[in-house]
Amino acid sequence: VVTYRRDHQAPAWLVPEVALDFALDPTLTRVRTRLSVERNGTHDLPLRLDGAGQVPLSVTVDGAPAEGWTIEDEQLVVPLTGDRHVIETEVEVAPDRNTQLMGLYASGGILCTQCEAEGFRRITYFPDRPDVLATYRVRMSADRRRFPVLLANGDPVAQGENADGTHWAEWHDPYPKPSYLFALVAGDLAVNRDTFTTRSGREVALGIWVRAADLPKTAHALDALKLSMAWDERVYGREYDLDVFNIVAVDDFNFGAMENKGLNIFNSRYILADPDTATDYDYDAIAAVVAHEYFHNWSGNRVTCRDWFQLSLKEGFTVYRDQSFSADQGSAAVKRIEDVRGLRAAQFPEDAGPLAHPVRPESYIEISNFYTATIYNKGAELIRMMATMLGDAAFRAGADLYFDRHDGTAATCEDFVRCMEEASGVDLAQFRLWYSQAGTPRVSASVEHEPGSGRALLHLAQKVPDTPGQSGKAPQVLPLRVRLFGSATGAPLGVERLVVLRDAAESIAFEDVTERPVVSLNRGFSAPVIIESDRTAADLAFLARHDDDPFARYEAMQQLMLDTLVAATVEGEADHRAVVEAVADTLDDPALDRAFVAEAVLLPSENFIGDQLATVDPEAVFTAREALRRALARALDQRWRAACDLGERVPYTYTPAAKGARRLRNVALHYLQAGGAADAPALAWAQFEAADNMTDRQGALTALASGHSDERDAALAAFYARYADNPLVLDKWFQTQALASRDDTPALVAELARHPDFSLANPNRARALIGAFAVNQRAFHVAGGAGYRWLADQLLALDPLNPQTSARLLPPLGRWRRFDPARAALMRAELERIVATPGISKDLFEQASKSLEG
Ligand code: ARG
Ligand code: ZN
Repeated sequence: VVTYRRDHQAPAWLVPEVALDFALDPTLTRVRTRLSVERNGTHDLPLRLDGAGQVPLSVTVDGAPAEGWTIEDEQLVVPLTGDRHVIETEVEVAPDRNTQLMGLYASGGILCTQCEAEGFRRITYFPDRPDVLATYRVRMSADRRRFPVLLANGDPVAQGENADGTHWAEWHDPYPKPSYLFALVAGDLAVNRDTFTTRSGREVALGIWVRAADLPKTAHALDALKLSMAWDERVYGREYDLDVFNIVAVDDFNFGAMENKGLNIFNSRYILADPDTATDYDYDAIAAVVAHEYFHNWSGNRVTCRDWFQLSLKEGFTVYRDQSFSADQGSAAVKRIEDVRGLRAAQFPEDAGPLAHPVRPESYIEISNFYTATIYNKGAELIRMMATMLGDAAFRAGADLYFDRHDGTAATCEDFVRCMEEASGVDLAQFRLWYSQAGTPRVSASVEHEPGSGRALLHLAQKVPDTPGQSGKAPQVLPLRVRLFGSATGAPLGVERLVVLRDAAESIAFEDVTERPVVSLNRGFSAPVIIESDRTAADLAFLARHDDDPFARYEAMQQLMLDTLVAATVEGEADHRAVVEAVADTLDDPALDRAFVAEAVLLPSENFIGDQLATVDPEAVFTAREALRRALARALDQRWRAACDLGERVPYTYTPAAKGARRLRNVALHYLQAGGAADAPALAWAQFEAADNMTDRQGALTALASGHSDERDAALAAFYARYADNPLVLDKWFQTQALASRDDTPALVAELARHPDFSLANPNRARALIGAFAVNQRAFHVAGGAGYRWLADQLLALDPLNPQTSARLLPPLGRWRRFDPARAALMRAELERIVATPGISKDLFEQASKSLEG
C-alpha cells in the first residue's frame, strides 16, 4: 500500500482530549482509553481509529456498548450520529514480546514506549496521524517493587498505593500534541536531578533517569541539557514550557532518541559517558543529541508536522539547530567539517542511488524508511542556505514568525518557507525546488582572467541529475560564498561575495583583479552541491596554505588528495609530492588548531573515493589509498612521532585543546601503522596500555586492528576482558573488527556473528557488526559476493524481530549500479532473494524492491 502526499485530507474527526489508564505488566498490559471526539466539518463519515496487532476487548460510545463497529485493515471503524461523543476502548498488549521496539516494550526490565512515527496504534486505538492534537491524561499502575518509578508526559498530578502491592501515578500534559509524542516509562530507575530557571523565571525540575549503576555516567548529558536550554533562549528566544523535563536512557532503542513532550527517551549510547568508556566523539554526539531532542520542544512539539511528508519540517530544522549549537560550543570550523563529511558519506550516496527522494517526499510504503540522511541532513542544509541568503537578523525574524504563527498547530514545509519569505522580503519561489527535486546538484566552475583590464570572470554552470521517477529538472538556487586570492602574492583580491546562482549557466564578473586569481568557492560549504572546477593541484595546494576560510582550506586539501587518489586508482600510480608537501605544511603551521589539523591531514575514505569513480573498483581504491598513506607515513615519520607525543602523559581533561591533541595523536598513530615501521605496533600497544581514557584506548585498538601483530591480538583480548559487562563498549569491540581493513575481515565478521555476546535483538549490537561491515568497502565487496550473502542472511534473520532495523541496514546492497557487472549481479541476486522471501516486512520490502528498480 502506497501513501501519496497529494492524497492528504484533513481528519474527519478531532480528538481534543484523551485519558489513558494502563495496568502495566511486562507479559500482559491492559490499556483503557477514553477519547472525546468531535466531528471536523460537515460529513457523515464514521470514526476511524488506527490499531496494530491488538483486538478491542470492549468499545463503548457515551457509556453504552458501541453498535455496528467493524475492523477494516486493523482500523476500528465506529459509526457515530452526533457531533461529539465519548469513545472508550480496552485492549491488551504484551510488552515482553514486542521485539520491534515500537509501541510499549520492555528493555532490560524497564517498560518504555516509542511512538514515532506510527507506534501509538500498537498501544491503543487512535487516529494515529500527526495532525490530530489532543491533551493527554495518563494513569498507570504497576508492581511497586519492580517498577518504583512511573513517568509520562507533562506534569505529575497524583500518585498512590493500591491494596494489591501495586502503586499508581497520574500525569497530565496541558499542551495538545499528536500521538507520536506520547510516552510513558516504568522501571527501577535512579535519577540525576538538577534545576534550570528559564529567563522568565520558571523553575524547571530536570531529571536524567538510568539504572542506578549508570548514575555516575549522566553528568555530561545533564550539562548538555542545561546548555541547550540556555542556548535556545539566547539564539531563538525559545523557553521551556513545563515544570519538569525528564530524560530516560534505555539499552534497546531503534535509533538515537525521541523528543516525547517533557519525557525524552534515549538510546543509552547518547546519554552514558565517562572518560573510561566514552570517546571524545561519543561526548560530542551526546551533547548534540541531547540538544536535538530538547530543541524539538519548539521545532517539532509546539509546532508539529501536518503529515509525514513534512517530516523534514521538524527534522531538518532541528538538525540545523543542533549543528549550530554544537558549533557554538567548540570549533565551528571543525564542526562544519564533520557535518559535511557526514553529509557526503550518507546523503550524497542516497541522492545518487535507487532510494533517492526529495526532502519532501511524494509517496512512501513505510514511513519509517524515510528517517533518512536526506530528510535530516540535506533538510538541515536547506535551512542553512535560507539563513545564508537572508542573513542572521531576517532569518531569526522568520523563525519568530514561524513559531508565533504556527504555535499549537500541525504545519507544513511550505508554511516555514512562507514565514521566511514574509519576514525577509526575499523571494524564495525558486528556492522551493530544493524541497521537491531530489539529487545533488553538480556545479562546474572555471575562471578567466584578463590581465589588461583587471577583470576576472567566474563561469558557473549547474545540473541537477535525474533520479528515480524524476528527470529533466530545473536549475536550483545555489548560494555560493566566493573569494578570489592572488596566485602570486597569496593575498585576497577583494572581499568575500555571496554569488547566488539561479540559472543553468552564469558568468560573474570581478573587477580589480591585479594578478592571476585562484578561486575559493562554496566556502563553508554554503550549498550542498558537488563542485567540479578546473583548479590544478598547484591551485589547491595554494588554497590549502592561504585560504582564510577554514572549511575552504580543508576542502582544498581534500580535493587535492581526492584528485591524487582518483588518478592513482585509474592509472595505477600517481605523484604523491603535492599531497605530502601540503600535509607537511599543515602539520607545521603552529597557528592551526590541532583538531583542525587532524581533520585536514586525514585522507578521504575508501567509500568517498569510490563515489568519484565511474565504476568502483574496491581493491584498486584500497591499494591507491594505502600507497598514499604509506608515502605520507614514511615521508613525515618524525612529524607523526612528534604528534603522537602531543600531550602524552598529561592526565585526561575534557577541554577543546586536550580533545584536539588526542584527535591528532590518533591520526598520527594510524599513519605510523601504515608506514610499517618495525616499532609501530609497539607504539600503539604502549598507548593502549597507558591510556587513561577511551579515546586513546580505542584509537590504539583501531590502529592495531587492521594489521597482523601480537599486539593486535593482545589488545583485542584485553579490551574484551576489561569491558565484557559494558554493552556500549562491547559494541565498539565488534565495530572496530568489522571496520578493520584485512583480507580476513569477512571471515572474522561471520565468526563474530556467532559470538555469545552477539545478538540481533539489540539494535546497537546489530548495527555495530552488520552496519559497520557493510560500509567497510573493501571487505563488504570482496570478490565472489560472500559479503553480500552474509548481509542478506543477517537482514532476513533480523527482519521478523525488528523490521525497522533490518530495513535500515539494507541500502549498501542497493548500490549495485556503481560496481562492475560481476559484483552488480551478485548484489542484485541477494536483493532478489530478499524480495522473494515470503512474509518479509513492508519495511524491508520497500527498501529491497526500490533498490532493484531504481
Ligand atoms: N524524532 C526522532 C529524532 O529525530 C527520531 C524518530 C525516528 N523514528 C523512526 N521511525 N525512525 O529525534
Ligand atoms: Zn529529530
